Amino acid sequence: MCGIVGYIGNRQAYPILIKGLQRLEYRGYDSAGIALLNSNNDLNVYKAKGKVSDLVHFVQSKDTEGTIGIAHTRWATHGEPNQVNAHPHFSQSEELALIHNGIIENYAVLKQGLIENGYSFLSETDTEVLVQLIEFIKKSNNISLTKAVQLALDQVVGAYAIAVIEKGQPDIIVAARKGSPLVVGIGEDEFFLASDATPIIEYTNKVVYIGEEEIVTLRRGKELRIKTIGNVEKTPEVKKLEMTISQLEKGGYPHFMIKEIFEQPKTLSDSMRGRVNVEGDHITLAGFIDNKEKFLNAKRIIITACGTSWHAGLIGKYAIEEFARIPVEVEYSSEFRYRKPVIHPDDIVIAISQSGETADTLAAVELAKSKGAFIFGICNVVGSSIPRNTHSGCYTHAGPEIGVASTKAFTAQVTVLTMLAMMIGKEKGTLNNENYLKIVSELSKIPEKIKEILKQNDRIAEFAKTFTYAQNFIYLGRGYNFPVALEGALKLKEISYIHAEGYPAAEMKHGPIALISQEMPVVVIATSAGMYEKVVSNIQEIKARKGKIISIVTEGDVVVSNLSDYTISIPDTEECLVPLLAAIPLQLFAYHIAVVKGCNVDQPRNLAKSVTVE
Ligand code: F6R
Repeated sequence: MCGIVGYIGNRQAYPILIKGLQRLEYRGYDSAGIALLNSNNDLNVYKAKGKVSDLVHFVQSKDTEGTIGIAHTRWATHGEPNQVNAHPHFSQSEELALIHNGIIENYAVLKQGLIENGYSFLSETDTEVLVQLIEFIKKSNNISLTKAVQLALDQVVGAYAIAVIEKGQPDIIVAARKGSPLVVGIGEDEFFLASDATPIIEYTNKVVYIGEEEIVTLRRGKELRIKTIGNVEKTPEVKKLEMTISQLEKGGYPHFMIKEIFEQPKTLSDSMRGRVNVEGDHITLAGFIDNKEKFLNAKRIIITACGTSWHAGLIGKYAIEEFARIPVEVEYSSEFRYRKPVIHPDDIVIAISQSGETADTLAAVELAKSKGAFIFGICNVVGSSIPRNTHSGCYTHAGPEIGVASTKAFTAQVTVLTMLAMMIGKEKGTLNNENYLKIVSELSKIPEKIKEILKQNDRIAEFAKTFTYAQNFIYLGRGYNFPVALEGALKLKEISYIHAEGYPAAEMKHGPIALISQEMPVVVIATSAGMYEKVVSNIQEIKARKGKIISIVTEGDVVVSNLSDYTISIPDTEECLVPLLAAIPLQLFAYHIAVVKGCNVDQPRNLAKSVTVE
């Protein structure tokens, strides 16, 4: 949902900012822009509709000199994606330039007030209102930029990460955040600013995560200064980044998505590292151990998440209910936060989020916290907002996920949830030792089994070509495989733009079966662990209506393979672990269909990786 980046120091800002935008492009890619203050004190703003590469093209013969600048890649909220609505936005006098990630909810009221004071507007954005407001306050009170930003933000309702520069002030950038992420990188006599650490890691591993309602002033050659909007001084807390540059590059793969699919044997090992012992007979999850009594005494667990993370949450529900015998409700964060849910102080709320920044999940966390529940986060991005707002949690350790369609983050979330369910069950005595040992041992073998599945990539690519004609798909699964069917369908629709629905296989006959014809491909997860015979009957029903069947089966399967037009085999495993294997061919299948259709796999239309608006 928009990426912002800034630089102040001794180097030329332009190449740093462009590279930063390219790293952040996963957050939004409908337009991009840059503002640079050059040594003649000109404030140059360049903007282009489209991708960062379109901006680079547009800027080619322009003046890009300057050692201070800010830049933005946009995911449109207010106003269509075009050059005028792209950021940075100038203030009326063109003395200030501002970039913004978030939404200013009361922009209409503020805009009216500014119009009455003689301000006029060029764009349809809420952001332009903010830059005009800062200028109005600054000029009316004759105060510094930092003070004007502080007073302006005091009037703002909404979410933002912003950065502002001012003509005649080549030595400062003022930035602030509320609800949208912002991190500052500290180099030698230079500062970097970005929505996440990916544009920064190349230059420094020292970062400061800016807190809620904090304003940071980056002063050339001086120390970082942080204040709250309420004017309280804060001491910057410097953290060390663990990320590496190679994690942010494609490493020879044509897309980040396929790279991330192929990384899963490693990312799942990383998720289990230090948690499942080498002998494969013991799980230690610090997040559980630290809060053991809370988990053992919980009457209910509520899982809240969005999209793919919500699907992982459903699998978590099955595992927690099976092993720990605690009732679990899985809630879409966007519904949960607004529908006056019943939350008790002895409830545990688990918030799942890859980015750790999803606005609805963050709001759900705040709501549950205000009702006294214990909040446990399962997130991927270290230091992001959700883990900083929860009482405790576990990181998934999948590494940076750049492809907009979530793949490795999903399997890492399922791995952590499974480990958590097993630990609670073991400690409560609801999961017996024999089953516990069997599942831990199987869990530790999952990375090797994924490697086996990935060997079928070429074959999946080949038969995926057959289905580019399809307008619709149905995905079916039962038990643990039902959320996998939902996830498979989501992957297909988001990157190939083919409509797809996931259903519990037995629900077919209650309506969707009417859709089946020889035109309709149906993907069925029919593995031997989990209601196999029932799923076989469901497949017979589809076959009888001439549907095209693509099945995911367990190695050695004959019955379903004979009924299917295409079959992908996966190694056998415990029922609760099948999602970790069955998800892989579905990711590959969606990927290859999208590639053959010529879709932009890593940056699908209308989507953004980190949904920091409601
Ligand atoms: C789908 C996808 C989205 C995210 C959702 C939640 O491939 O990536 O559905 O899962 O936007 O994002 P996080 O997990 O960052 O909260």
